[in-house]
Amino acid sequence: SRKPLIAGNWKMNKNVSEGAALAAEIAGADIDYSTRDVLFAPPFTGIYAVAEAVKKAGGKALVAAQNIYFEESGAFTGEVSSGMIKSAGASWVILGHSERRSIFGETDEIINKKVKKALADGLSVILCVGETLWEREAKAEVETVLAQTGKGLEGVEDLSNVVIAYEPVWAIGTGKTASPADAEAMHKAIREYIAKIRSSAAAENIRILYGGSMKPDNAKELMACPDIDGGLVGGASLKADQFLKIINFDK
Ligand code: 13P
Repeated sequence: SRKPLIAGNWKMNKNVSEGAALAAEIAGADIDYSTRDVLFAPPFTGIYAVAEAVKKAGGKALVAAQNIYFEESGAFTGEVSSGMIKSAGASWVILGHSERRSIFGETDEIINKKVKKALADGLSVILCVGETLWEREAKAEVETVLAQTGKGLEGVEDLSNVVIAYEPVWAIGTGKTASPADAEAMHKAIREYIAKIRSSAAAENIRILYGGSMKPDNAKELMACPDIDGGLVGGASLKADQFLKIINFDK
């Protein structure tokens, strides 16, 4: 069975000392790491201090970057590579977040290059997919999400270090959550698609997270859905008490 993963995407929030303090407070709290994985994704500038704070707190939380470039080094001003985030203490990376797609123009092709680069370098990947409100109203949400999934994973045969995060764009930062039934339907469609394009074993094993206004008061219900294996949490991951309640959704 799949171990739940509760991941906090801090987005462009928290400076070095604020990030270290938040990670220390959460990682040092009462968390049963044998029954759940916990992950922090600070901005690049916070990775080293967050990784150190987690170690010091004796926690087993994972540390991720929110992006990488698909080259390792060279004349790419402003970019950061997988080797660099690894040397700072990250072992995971979030790729293809809707904000990367819509604000920074990342295409499925670019995201696929990043996925392959990260996996080749031994990082684990959270690949984000999700439809816009317009696509949902046009009843193209399943088609959109499965296309993003297939293109993002093109050429990636082994999915053991891949997690998919389904984040409906209209639910991100809006306070609107997909209903558990709608979220479950999409997660199930993604899992069936993985079975079709890879194998039933890959589909059975891959974790699919829900993201979009996940909060302490809706986490339990979402997590109870059979195909929802965790959360990718934005706003509520910035407050220790709220994030801890989501981590301990079953307590
Ligand atoms: P919110 O939880 O703030 O809606 O953000 C979700 C998200 O985009 C996580 O990656």
